[in-house]
Amino acid sequence: MTVKDFKYVIAGGGVAAGYAAKEFAKQGVKPGELAVISKEAVAPYERPALSKAYLFPEGFARLPGFHVCVGSGGERQPPEWYKENGIELILSTEIVKADLAGKTLTSAAGDTFKYQTLIIATGSSVIRLTDFGVQGADSKNIFYLREIDDADKLVDAIKAKKNGKCVIVGGGYIGLEISAVMKMNNVDVTTVYPEPWCMPRLFTAELAAFYEGYYSNKGINIIKGTVAAGFTADANGDVKEVKLKDGRVLEANIVVVGVGARPLINLFKGQLQEEKGGIKTDGFFKTSNPDVYAVGDVATFPLKLYSEIRRVEHVDHARKSAEQAVKALKASEKGKSIEEYDYLPYFYSRSFDLSWQFYGDNVGETVIFGDNNPAAPKAKFGTYWTKDGKVVGAFLESGTPEENKAIAKVARAQPPVESLEKLKAEGLTFATKF
Ligand code: FDA
Ligand code: NAD
Repeated sequence: MTVKDFKYVIAGGGVAAGYAAKEFAKQGVKPGELAVISKEAVAPYERPALSKAYLFPEGFARLPGFHVCVGSGGERQPPEWYKENGIELILSTEIVKADLAGKTLTSAAGDTFKYQTLIIATGSSVIRLTDFGVQGADSKNIFYLREIDDADKLVDAIKAKKNGKCVIVGGGYIGLEISAVMKMNNVDVTTVYPEPWCMPRLFTAELAAFYEGYYSNKGINIIKGTVAAGFTADANGDVKEVKLKDGRVLEANIVVVGVGARPLINLFKGQLQEEKGGIKTDGFFKTSNPDVYAVGDVATFPLKLYSEIRRVEHVDHARKSAEQAVKALKASEKGKSIEEYDYLPYFYSRSFDLSWQFYGDNVGETVIFGDNNPAAPKAKFGTYWTKDGKVVGAFLESGTPEENKAIAKVARAQPPVESLEKLKAEGLTFATKF
């Protein structure tokens, strides 16, 4: 049992941790001042790869190819990078206790880590069907996807069940991205979700209709308006059937579940203020304890643009919040301050040959523009959200880098619109001429 003492500790070793380490290295840390403690066995990597290129049948991504910070065009940070920068990377180490009053973390192995400043970057964990007591949900070959170990298990299953039958439970990000990549692996795919259309937290019915049509044309079977109510397994305990609530039964030898995530904040319960399911921070990611910062998925922060506080479970915010927190804490050590975080929400996804980006807020009325025929050889379309006569959100499928920049600019600037009809007629030009 060891006791180690650091000036700064980052709890968690995912995207936000990696980008925080990058900013520490940029600002300057002395050898031995900073530790990153992660329960994963590998250095921080770009998590989005796990539901995309990591699962490709050919030309797949593997570490060290996608360690942070390659996702934002930065220098790759394999384990050697941490060594060279005097940062202690403590892997395969789960923190099981956090005593914020005593400024001490304890690992599952009983080791103690003391800190002066803590950055919480523990991210999220998946919601499991066993959490709701779904019958048979603990059968073998029912997979979730959060960490590289999960992705490795799925890769093994795809290989073992060549030309298998897969049921995907959930119509969110994981559901759509994994459905596509399973199909690319020549697996028979049925995707099941309870809502009337996919990605209901972001997509309008019209946007969803394109992706559902495109997926159907690729041979993916979509079943909407019902949920997986139970599973049956064979004598080995391997999943065999998915029983839907509407009575249908689907054959399956692989099931992938993506029914949402939950921020990992239990370690800090009762020690920090919480809001909207996360740890409440200010615009510098400082929590209710002045020596503790929280970044990435766990942080509920002021979204200045909308005068609201929100939690965001996306990679762009994980990167930027980490950078902001380290800049703020380093500035405060010099008695200086920096500008408050002023984030423009940005989400994206990629599957098959498709790639969309969304910026801003998806509230108010919507107009769809462009060619959204799922059978079109090169469909290109988008949607604007307008509120109080201004554009507040913009979505674009298959945009060029310049076009994506243009929709981001519009979502940030919130220009007024004369009428929805005019906006629809102008379409992408409204953004590109802006
Ligand atoms: P993140 O989950 O990255 O890291 C948390 C780390 O803390 C993990 O290493 C974990 O093991 C560790 N940890 C947790 N508890 C611990 C403890 N007690 N002790 C030690 N370590 C602990 N977003 C997007 O915008 N575009 C995209 O395409 C995708 N794609 C995508 C695919 C998949 C498969 C997932 C799961 C998620 C995405 N996301 C995404 C979301 C994005 O990856 C996510 O928002 C960020 O990874 C959040 O970064 P964090 O650092 O907050 O958590
Ligand atoms: P999600 O919240 O995007 O989607 C959850 C979906 O689960 C819902 O849309 C619904 O269709 C479905 N659902 C909910 N309860 C269900 C039930 N009982 N049975 C069947 N379906 C049910 O969550 P996710 O797709 O699991 O993603 C997990 C996390 O990973 C999120 O934080 C997400 O932001 C992140 N992620 C992001 C991206 C991206 O940004 N491109 C990609 C992958 C994952």
